Amino acid sequence: MAIERTFSILKPDTVEKHKIGEVIAMLESTGLVPVAMRMMHLTKKQAEGFYYVHKERKFFGELVEFMTRGPILAMVLEGENAIAKYREVMGATDPSKAAEGTVRKKYGANVGENAIHGSDAPETARFEIGYFFPGYELG
Ligand code: RTP
Ligand code: MG
Repeated sequence: MAIERTFSILKPDTVEKHKIGEVIAMLESTGLVPVAMRMMHLTKKQAEGFYYVHKERKFFGELVEFMTRGPILAMVLEGENAIAKYREVMGATDPSKAAEGTVRKKYGANVGENAIHGSDAPETARFEIGYFFPGYELG
């Protein structure tokens, strides 16, 4: 297995609940290491661009509204098999279906407000990291 990088967002609900520290501790305990972080309040245009793959979905408007309602924490995480490992610790999209011990089980409210985002494949990780972090900021 190789060292990979993946992209993470702690969504506005996690920031509002003051759970940034607890969630990062969960991620670090699985061996995922933050190598870049940025806290920001997304504009509508930035959120739409980030989630463009979902633009035809019926929940798109709701998703963009949620992601822009308050600050987020964007991060790049590094580790062995990071993309799959991180998806595992995040848990299923719908927190009520997420496994025990996952971030979404613990902190997600519902399928829309689900605490955390993560890249689902190497190509999406590349796009998403590049969307938020210029190459010169990453070693
Ligand atoms: P994410 O991209 O945020 O890591 O989540 P995911 O891969 O587990 O799920 P995805 O299908 O990519 O959906 C992106 C985000 O859209 C919201 N969503 N709402 N109301 C709904 O039925 C619904 N379905 C998805 C969630 O915030 C989900 O994480
Ligand atoms: Mg997704």
